[in-house]
Amino acid sequence: MIQKGRSIKIAGDTRPGTVADLFAAYVAALNGAAKDNGMIAKASVGELIADLGQVPESIRTVIRNNGGGHANHTMFWEVMGPGAGGAPSGEVAAAITRDLGGFDKFKADFEAAGLKVFGSGWVFVTVDRAGKLALLPQPNQDSPIMAGHKVLFGNDVWEHAYYLKYQNRRADYLKAWWNVVNWPKIEERYAAAKAGKLAI
Ligand SMILES: [Fe+2]
Repeated sequence: MIQKGRSIKIAGDTRPGTVADLFAAYVAALNGAAKDNGMIAKASVGELIADLGQVPESIRTVIRNNGGGHANHTMFWEVMGPGAGGAPSGEVAAAITRDLGGFDKFKADFEAAGLKVFGSGWVFVTVDRAGKLALLPQPNQDSPIMAGHKVLFGNDVWEHAYYLKYQNRRADYLKAWWNVVNWPKIEERYAAAKAGKLAI
């Protein structure tokens, strides 16, 4: 597992309960569910969580939590990077101004939404086919994909994402997270969303 966010756990760390362990657990759980179910084995994670109603009830919660966790973390690692941060440009900057009140207001609203998530969850920015953005906090490992939305990017506010560096200071973590956000990658995701090619 690649470390991108500073407090995110890294490959080779053998302590229990790390993010790398959790990601491996999502994969193991999905593979476990797939073993007894051909439909699960054939579908992508994005397809599975986009239509949980089609998943057999006996494994729906497993798919919801582990498929959501898989999709959310796949996106999360994609939108962060070393030497990142700064401000968006181009179409993403324009969309943030148009739909979310400008970059400064958006950052404040995103941090406030992340802080308000009770317990564990995520704060996402969704994007529709026309490129319109919206802020969407979610509990647990629920993905906006489950409600038919596409995710432009999001931040993990599970305590496992920040406790090593920030302990329980979620507000500090949310503020510092802007320093690792990879806006060029998010601009690629934005273009993909508008082209109908954004999977996770
Ligand atoms: Fe996480």
